[in-house]
Amino acid sequence: MSRARVGVLASGRGSNMAALDAAMRRGEVPAEIVLVLSDRPQAPVLELARERGIAAAAIPRTDDRESHEQALVAALREAEAEWVCLAGYMRLLGGTFIGAFAPRILNIHPSLLPAFPGLEAQRQAIEHGVRVSGCTVHLVDEGLDSGPIVGQSAVEVEPADDVEALAARILGAEHQLYPRCLAELLRRPFVLDGRRLRFC
Ligand code: GRF
Repeated sequence: MSRARVGVLASGRGSNMAALDAAMRRGEVPAEIVLVLSDRPQAPVLELARERGIAAAAIPRTDDRESHEQALVAALREAEAEWVCLAGYMRLLGGTFIGAFAPRILNIHPSLLPAFPGLEAQRQAIEHGVRVSGCTVHLVDEGLDSGPIVGQSAVEVEPADDVEALAARILGAEHQLYPRCLAELLRRPFVLDGRRLRFC
């Protein structure tokens, strides 16, 4: 099977980018990361990517979302990316970006969507008092963490958990789930039936 060319957008630490790359190098995902882009020039993900031999660049965010998205699309097209994985990318994407790559744009979110979209999902889960949370990989649309669900992984909330402890356990689950979902999408044809993603 030929390897899909994947671009990653990230704003911060980059552990999901590294988990995707590691799974690809182990042969678990028929893909390669061809470019990592960040809207934050100081984001650790850029250095982490370069250490792994992956091309990485900052395209700093501007108030003009349209021109920012055009620049992201141009860089990803230049790198011949076919899929885009958001991995801690902290800006909503609009029609210009989504129109260029949908439905081949994925995001990972640290809750069982549709519960707790948006920022600080792990804090929301603790404060709500849920007994089970987890993470979700979904296709990206213009809403906030709202696209069709590809896969989910549940994580129990322990009584003694604070936000950091829960976030760390969910992150471990994220690193398993994201490569698994990407591999499944690359290996099996899928259709969208309303919000429901079905593998054929
Ligand atoms: C992860 O918790 C992810 O679910 C969320 O942002 C965080 C990114 O972490 N969207 P990292 O940069 O991949 O380490």
